[in-house]
Amino acid sequence: MISINTEIARKFISEEDFNESLEKCTDSLVQLREKTGLGAEWLGWRDLLQLPNDALLEEINALAGKIRKDADVFIICGIGGSYLGAKAVIDALSPHFGKKGPEILFAGHHMGGKYLEELLNYIKTPKSDGTPKSVYVNVISKSGSTLETALSFRMIREVLDNLYGEGATNRIVCTTSKEGGVLNGLIDEKGYKKFIIPNNVGGRFSVLTPVGLIPIAVAGIDIKTLFYGAVSAFNKYEKDASDILEYAAVRRTLHEKGITVDVFSCFEPELQSFGGWIQQLMGESEGKEGKGIFPAVASFSTDLHSLGQFIQQGTRCLMETFLIVEKQISLIKVNSLEGDHDNLNYLSGKSFHDINTKARIGTTEAHKDGDVPIINLSLSSLNAEVIGELIYFFELLTGVFVYSLDINPFDQPGVEDYKKAMYRLLGKD
Ligand code: PA5
Repeated sequence: MISINTEIARKFISEEDFNESLEKCTDSLVQLREKTGLGAEWLGWRDLLQLPNDALLEEINALAGKIRKDADVFIICGIGGSYLGAKAVIDALSPHFGKKGPEILFAGHHMGGKYLEELLNYIKTPKSDGTPKSVYVNVISKSGSTLETALSFRMIREVLDNLYGEGATNRIVCTTSKEGGVLNGLIDEKGYKKFIIPNNVGGRFSVLTPVGLIPIAVAGIDIKTLFYGAVSAFNKYEKDASDILEYAAVRRTLHEKGITVDVFSCFEPELQSFGGWIQQLMGESEGKEGKGIFPAVASFSTDLHSLGQFIQQGTRCLMETFLIVEKQISLIKVNSLEGDHDNLNYLSGKSFHDINTKARIGTTEAHKDGDVPIINLSLSSLNAEVIGELIYFFELLTGVFVYSLDINPFDQPGVEDYKKAMYRLLGKD
């Protein structure tokens, strides 16, 4: 379950301004539901929760089971919306150490040559018993032509062809649009296994399609529970979207008052990558026409020792959204030591959960005193169901908030500019 508390942020805005934003956000929600707003042809991320495709979930689970059994290494090759959702869920729900199943590596998410070179050498290097590593790759690209992904995939494919000959074909899974794009040509030619990204779902809204579900299932996470967590959030907010409207209206009012940065601060490091997904979802959706709140991510208490000073006393342009996990997710406690040479016995018997909670409450007090409007977003626990709910929560919030600014949440015209300049410099026709 997810709940929000906007009490602190509301102190920074007037009732009148809030009500005006609420009205605007309520209209935005109607536009989303009735598909009458800008970019309405991109609302497939809502449709897929209305009509769950259980057969697809089963098919993905079967494939993931086979890969988990057979692979030493599984490479997720994609960028932006084609990998951030998978990474967010995998990092939120997997153990930090001693993971079971294949080692999961990322590629195609930047142009760094050193990283790719090391990755290729790593997969080429046999295991300690002298046998070759068993490597699978899932290349994910809706357009099928994104340079970072396409280039890395070309290099990885060459290694797999050399390692496994014709057997390489069965180790390559492609997730792309139904038709068109260079990747589809390659699929037709080589016979790679293909999964489809629906045309009406944009990259940053695609984590609950094969884009995110295949890597997440290979990581050993229960995708059915994740998906149905999102379905239950969909049903909940179709009946009563007051939490979404409250959050969007507070955010819109703060935006009108000149707030330009929203720091998504988590207190559990497992959620840091989820912040990365939120950052892309909101940043690419709202940062247009000179509008939007820049989404930043902080992991506390780590970043209290880096960004904390700025948040407390720097330029007052910030709001914060705290991502809180209510349920204790670890049992570790502080022990008592004879002699108390490090003066920490005053914490004896306390759990790290308690200590972290006190750090959060203390941070809330301090940042509130530093004039930072804060929204608390609480997750009842950290599991697949709640993460599924959280995904839909942020997708819907983004749609409503961005419509309330009178802009199209579903395009990204600005991203093309760097591509055009880069391709010109690279000499592409
Ligand atoms: O949200 C988006 O649409 C983008 O971030 C894309 O996901 C990203 O640019 C990757 O595109 P593609 O999947 O076409 O390779």
